[in-house]
Amino acid sequence: MIEVKNLRKHYGSHIAVDGISFEARQGEILGLLGPNGAGKTTTMRILTGFMPPTDGTASVAGYDVMNDSMEVRRRVGYLPEKVPVYPDMTLRAYVTFVAQLHNVDNHKKKVDEVLDRFGLLDRRDKLIRSLSKGLRQRLGLAQALVHNPPVIVLDEPTIGIDPKQVIEVRDIVKSLRQDHTVLFSSHILTEVEQVCDRVVIINQGQVVAQGTAEELGRQFKPQRQLYIELDGGNDAAYQELLNKIDLIESIDKDGRGYVLHIATTDSIQKPITRAIADSDFTLVELRQLDVSLEDVFLDIISKGDR
Ligand SMILES: Nc1ncnc2c1ncn2[C@@H]1O[C@H](COP(=O)(O)OP(=O)(O)OP(=O)(O)O)[C@@H](O)[C@H]1O
Ligand SMILES: [Mg+2]
Repeated sequence: MIEVKNLRKHYGSHIAVDGISFEARQGEILGLLGPNGAGKTTTMRILTGFMPPTDGTASVAGYDVMNDSMEVRRRVGYLPEKVPVYPDMTLRAYVTFVAQLHNVDNHKKKVDEVLDRFGLLDRRDKLIRSLSKGLRQRLGLAQALVHNPPVIVLDEPTIGIDPKQVIEVRDIVKSLRQDHTVLFSSHILTEVEQVCDRVVIINQGQVVAQGTAEELGRQFKPQRQLYIELDGGNDAAYQELLNKIDLIESIDKDGRGYVLHIATTDSIQKPITRAIADSDFTLVELRQLDVSLEDVFLDIISKGDR
């Protein structure tokens, strides 16, 4: 649905997007994750046909963003980073205006439907200036969806709104899955992990990793933390045994067992089970602990800074 190949964007001598490639499949929510200045907004503006790339290609729903930008815009709903606000317009007038730009048939009905979907119908005749930031964000989503586009591009839709509204917006985004292909940018890892099917991590204009949260976890920090529980001895004896095993960097007591921090990405389960088999203890449990996307992200970003 979205195909980006070697996309570049220079602002004068500044390289904002430096040859990125990724794809979003039909019906998935793809997260674009990156710190400030990574190039998220620039990428999204190119994909929505608002700005030409310096080099490379991008297509949305089969249309090239450069050569067929009108066709692209017809098929994309866009919530920009800064939602254009017309404070003196009513909610209904604003969404109607957007619907007319998109030549939506029967737009009265469609406008009411979309306002209703976002819980704004009873406020439809209020002025936009009376809305809280969170409600404005919902209005931004409503205008992005009024023409029922197959592709939706949301640039940090949860930024600057309160926690309750953040949850609402995330739920709305999740409800778009399958009927729409969604590109969702954020610099919040847990959010991307919660909302998106796959993640593209960008830093300094380049893709540094992509995959599902699980894949990224495996790819970047496999087996960094293990949980182990033993039986047949005491705390001091267990710690003595574990301390003798190479590659275990540190040991933390955790309930009835221990969390082992491993200094390598190589498999270390075997040396551990061997050491225990050679001891007087029995192994109750040994399992790998999940690595959060946050760990992966910080690891990648810090490498980029070095
Ligand atoms: N119009 C512009 N002119 C010059 N430089 C720009 C312009 N827009 C963005 N940049 C620069 O390009 C880089 C990428 O910016 P972009 O806004 O795409 O990043 P972002 O990932 O959206 O960041 P943020 O999380 O802060 O929104 C940044 O270094 C930014 O300063
Ligand atoms: Mg941005």
